[in-house]
Amino acid sequence: MSGFSNKVIYQIYPKSFMDSDGDGFGDLKGVTKKLDYLAYLGVDYLWLTPFFVSPQRDNGYDVEDYYNIDPRFGTMEDVENLIAEAKKHGMGVMFDMVFNHTSTAHEWFQKALQGDKEYQDFYYFVDGTEDKIPTNWISKFGGPAWKYVPDLKKWYLHLFDETQADLNWENEKVREELKKVIHFWKDKGVEGFRFDVVNLISKPEVFEDDMIGDGRRFYTDGRHVHEFLKELVADTQMESMVTVGEMSSTTLENCIRYSNPEEKELSMCFNFHHLKIDYKGGDKWEVMDPDIRQLNDLMKHWQEGMQKANGWNAVFWCNHDQPRIVSRLGDEHKYWKESAKMLATSIHMMRGTPYVYQGEEIGMTNAGYSNIEEYKDVESLNYYEIMLDQGKTKEEALKIVGLRSRDNGRTPMQWTDGENAGFSQGTPWIGVNHNSQCINVESQLGDKDSILEYYRRLIALRKEKAVIADGSISFLEESAAEVMAYTRTLGDEELVVFANYSDREVVLNTNIPENSYLLLLDSYTDETSIINRNQEGCLVLRPYESQVWEKVVRN
Ligand code: GLC
Repeated sequence: MSGFSNKVIYQIYPKSFMDSDGDGFGDLKGVTKKLDYLAYLGVDYLWLTPFFVSPQRDNGYDVEDYYNIDPRFGTMEDVENLIAEAKKHGMGVMFDMVFNHTSTAHEWFQKALQGDKEYQDFYYFVDGTEDKIPTNWISKFGGPAWKYVPDLKKWYLHLFDETQADLNWENEKVREELKKVIHFWKDKGVEGFRFDVVNLISKPEVFEDDMIGDGRRFYTDGRHVHEFLKELVADTQMESMVTVGEMSSTTLENCIRYSNPEEKELSMCFNFHHLKIDYKGGDKWEVMDPDIRQLNDLMKHWQEGMQKANGWNAVFWCNHDQPRIVSRLGDEHKYWKESAKMLATSIHMMRGTPYVYQGEEIGMTNAGYSNIEEYKDVESLNYYEIMLDQGKTKEEALKIVGLRSRDNGRTPMQWTDGENAGFSQGTPWIGVNHNSQCINVESQLGDKDSILEYYRRLIALRKEKAVIADGSISFLEESAAEVMAYTRTLGDEELVVFANYSDREVVLNTNIPENSYLLLLDSYTDETSIINRNQEGCLVLRPYESQVWEKVVRN
């Protein structure tokens, strides 16, 4: 059981959430303006992606100064005001700490470039000549993971963009500096932290070529990562705060250690295995239909595995790096509403702390851009070129970017059916989705059949029913590969959850006796009037239908 089992966290990408001053960029004042809405949804914490001073090469994940606010997002006063106002609304604010790397514009890196040895030790600088790269590792954004600095005759490591230099956590001075950053924001009233790609912070002692992969096996869940996290948490007194680590290509065993309370590392972990079920051969840029059987296997593995060893999952579908889930595993058109609700149900009934990413709660879809110029993300633009170099046509490459781009999750929040979806009075930094007239907050607020109100109900239910927050989970075998089914149990209380991930009807083989279970939730709105059973009495789920059954407890 976790201290955060009945909490729900809402992720805000400030740049695309609400623009208060008409410059086309969302900002902190914009977030504050929307606190009533967020409180209405019923969420407990707001995780804001980085708004620190940054060249914005990777939208703020390239931090130049951990202590100051990028003027595009506002001022220190704005952030203090946001924290205070959120608190008044009953919500805590979580910051996003990018501690694996800094921007190359950061003062530390700039000093290193000027030859200061002390600061060169803050990063991974390796002596060498330009013709001999230290290793063959591939950056997560494509291309080599090392960049040469001719003046220094050294290479430096960057697992992401070349303007994001990896910090050397082996150096105690680095760890001390990062602790200071945590103290600074804690003192301002920040209640929790999300740690960006934090399982990559511990690099190997010796750098060597990877003959079978892109290098990740040498630095993922690295040799000192648990030690470093324990130290960071203990020295900043973060034990009781809400902390979540973003774990790239991780394992169950490591996530148990990261999140089991006895280890005193983090409250919970994000892993991404379930979001690779449509990567052909594990490659993000090769598309295939989602493999729902694999999704089921992965969910079972992580949910039951974490439960067994007292680990705790952050459960989610969407974030600022992912395509929109309704476009990906649901149906943007005919079953838009039903599939969005079905997907929400699958996640919110699980064991773990659910995350809702801005716009997910109204069923926002992928960007739908028709031109590569409309994309802004460095990763998308790099891979577009890489795909062309590999021989794909422009049409093919654009289609793949359309499915995979991180910009799918970064289009402006759709508040109204008005101009720029009510996001900005200026020109938005990135194009608004063309469907904002149909999909927006205004039209869903208060409509009891809407996706938005359904999310509200899910969030409220987690607080009402201990079985959702604290029950144990067990996956059921269903004969149809497209059905996800599991039970939650706590003492006498029991829930049975079914979700149909297909556009056809499916017959369930799990028996739900009519008199002992009541239908608690259905992704179709006519829930009570139509409970389909076939002649043998088995339940039949409609396309993308989900149902949650609650056992009747008789005293
Ligand atoms: C994480 C962030 C992503 C960023 C990367 C590098 O994966 O979520 O947006 O690009 O780390 O900081």
